[in-house]
Amino acid sequence: VVEIKSLFRESEKYADQEIVVEGWVRTNRGSNKFGFIELNDGTFFKSVQVVYEAEFLDNFEEISKAPVAAALCVTGTFVLTPDAKQPFEIKAKNIVIEAGSEADYPLQKKRHSMEFLREIAHLRPRSNTFSAVFRVRSIVAYAIHKFFQENNFVYAHTPIITASDCEGAGEMFQITTLDLDNPPRTEDGEIDYSQDFFGKKASLTVSGQLEAEIFALAFKNVYTFGPTFRAENSNTARHASEFWMIEPEMAFADLTDDMDVAEAMIKYIINYVLENAPEEMEFFNKFMDKGLIERLQNIVNSDFERVTYTEAVEILQKSGEDFQYPVEWGIDLQTEHERYLTEKVYKKPIFVIDYPKEIKAFYMRLNDDGKTVAACDLLVPGVGEIIGGSQREERYDVLKARIEETGMTEEDYWWYMDLRKYGGVKHSGYGLGFERIIMYITGMSNIRDVLPFPRTPKTAEF
Ligand code: 4AD
Ligand code: MG
Repeated sequence: VVEIKSLFRESEKYADQEIVVEGWVRTNRGSNKFGFIELNDGTFFKSVQVVYEAEFLDNFEEISKAPVAAALCVTGTFVLTPDAKQPFEIKAKNIVIEAGSEADYPLQKKRHSMEFLREIAHLRPRSNTFSAVFRVRSIVAYAIHKFFQENNFVYAHTPIITASDCEGAGEMFQITTLDLDNPPRTEDGEIDYSQDFFGKKASLTVSGQLEAEIFALAFKNVYTFGPTFRAENSNTARHASEFWMIEPEMAFADLTDDMDVAEAMIKYIINYVLENAPEEMEFFNKFMDKGLIERLQNIVNSDFERVTYTEAVEILQKSGEDFQYPVEWGIDLQTEHERYLTEKVYKKPIFVIDYPKEIKAFYMRLNDDGKTVAACDLLVPGVGEIIGGSQREERYDVLKARIEETGMTEEDYWWYMDLRKYGGVKHSGYGLGFERIIMYITGMSNIRDVLPFPRTPKTAEF
């Protein structure tokens, strides 16, 4: 059995050969003498055309009625057709129906809305759009591993079930084996998590960063790549409750090193996808976002901008734009501000650095001004923030003060503090939102359409 991908990639090799292909019917049309089936086997974005004739098939009648989604095994001659719309076709000698399909199959050959396709998430991977999205998702995942492995980063597996709230934002999904309707209580009336299966309060991780720091201070350069969970009630096109994150962490690296790696990584990923998914990228370029490929190529060939938060705020204030959310030093940048900076001012990806400490997590390194921290967010046109990173606070006393200041409990982070005591050199890292980079590369505008099984507030079929 030949994969349809190799028919496209090595057509010459199969010219005039008898071959066998297996796949599913995408379309089937014809007359009472002959017919055409577009057959897709999942190995490639495109389908192969099968021509069948009453003259050569005993079961012509049955095949001409084979419905969309039926699974077939086709034996026939592979013929190059340089003058036709299709580069080649298979002239069928024998077709066996391996699995039938029913007439009410919801995915017919027409343009369905994204909303409708979300309702049939169990079938949408078979559509052109989602076939392209999920193959690109796979290719980007591979490119990310390849980038880090080629640069000698160690892949660290950090816990999914954890006791630490990395972002300190209280957005964790708690998990417990206690009967919460009637939980055991301590003398002060608090829920007694020491009686829980885990012996203390446990949640799903929001970030593997703190554990990645452990590994960075042993292996120098490491990265994580795994699912993360946020119980934030953000009903936007960019937030999911379950998403994937890539978190490199590097010892002996400062904020500039951090951004250099992030920029090189983004460019590497884009190049890799353009080279390895040309058919899918052409599809996105045509149907999702005109000019996408050219824009991505420009990004690879130019430097990202780097501006401080303070500069960004000044630009926004001087813009004369009537923002819904007024701009003053100290605010967290909103989507409208990010869009203005990336789409109107710079027209390319920008790193915004040195944010006010009040709007960032406890672990970010305090700058000399005592007001800002060594943070870097990467903002891109169309999507907004795709990376959040920072140099980490390596000074024991400063970190201790920050933990107290942010109302956290030092005892919970004793091991994190320990890292500062024993060879706690300067180190930096960042988190890339996997779905956000997929949105950026494909031009898909809703995070629900780049996640195979989206889980967002109020959408959770699986
Ligand atoms: O900016 P965040 O919260 O940073 C961290 O978690 C750090 N611990 C990362 C690090 O320094 N190692 O999240 C990082 C990225 C964001 O820039 C965004 O792309 C993505 O994760 N992200 C989300 N993606 C989808 N849905 C959500 N609810 C997301 N929250 C964050
Ligand atoms: Mg962030």
